[in-house]
Amino acid sequence: MDLIGRDFLRTKGFSADELKLILDRASEMKSALRRRMGTPPYLEGKSIAMLFQKPSTRTRISFDVGVYQLGGHPIYLNWADLQLGRGETVSDTGRILGCYVDGIVARVFKHSDLEVLADSSPAPVINALSDEFHPCQALSDCLTILERKGRIEGVSVVFVGDGRSNVCQSLAEAVLQLGGNITVSSPAKYMPTEEFVKELRGIAGKGGKIRLVEDPFEAVKGADVIYTDVWVSMGFESEAAERRSALGPYQVNSGLMRSAPPDAIVMHCLPAHRGEEITSEVIDGPRSAVWEQAENRLHVQKSIMSLIF
Ligand code: CP
Ligand code: NVA
Repeated sequence: MDLIGRDFLRTKGFSADELKLILDRASEMKSALRRRMGTPPYLEGKSIAMLFQKPSTRTRISFDVGVYQLGGHPIYLNWADLQLGRGETVSDTGRILGCYVDGIVARVFKHSDLEVLADSSPAPVINALSDEFHPCQALSDCLTILERKGRIEGVSVVFVGDGRSNVCQSLAEAVLQLGGNITVSSPAKYMPTEEFVKELRGIAGKGGKIRLVEDPFEAVKGADVIYTDVWVSMGFESEAAERRSALGPYQVNSGLMRSAPPDAIVMHCLPAHRGEEITSEVIDGPRSAVWEQAENRLHVQKSIMSLIF
């Protein structure tokens, strides 16, 4: 399997075996780091551009540290500080960036900008979050599920909240590709679109099933994993009041957790808005896996970069 030079804009397009390779290498890198053993300097002599159009804590820092640990040189670029902020096109920028650096990590508002960047740059591009997908998060979440549950095949993952969010879309895609089951519980307006559900049905791996269940108490019955994300994603601030009101009944709190099996774990990509989509009692409680998810970003992204860049 050779992933060198491929763009990683979403998990679709990568086979289940390729995704498993990324997860296996991430696990190896994680245990090597825990044993204070180095990993091969996969990025020695390479420069990696990290282009950000939106704020970030976890993604920015874990990519920066990851490039450093792999022996490369990370260059943080704020979109607004480049000529992009003064109207230079994304495609001209991609063409230029790609002739200086060996890889690009980019967080953008519009997923279509990421596609233009990838098409115009000679260097491969990794999606660090767009309005539609967050694949590095999804694979880190799959690693966390594997560690906590011992498998992904047949595991029941229930996403509660904004079913059209980038995090939900990538989670659904990756879990299905790896043979797990996904349930999305949202008000009708925030359920995944019919078009996306059709696409998901087309990519589901061995036996993976997708269910849409409006009632969150019904949805979490039988769940192995309950996942939520903010109600107001970056770029959707003008809809904040409407979203908070529609998504209010979808809070992950101890009442909802009582409807789930006792061994169900809780996941959140972070940042969390405590008291909105999730309560402090749950996120800080014994069933929370959120800190492991955040840690796994580092290992999974190092694995992806080592294979692609
Ligand atoms: N989960 C995640 O991508 O966090 P940041 O926005 O802090 O990078
Ligand atoms: N859905 C959230 C994820 C943040 C990591 C957002 O796009 O703001």
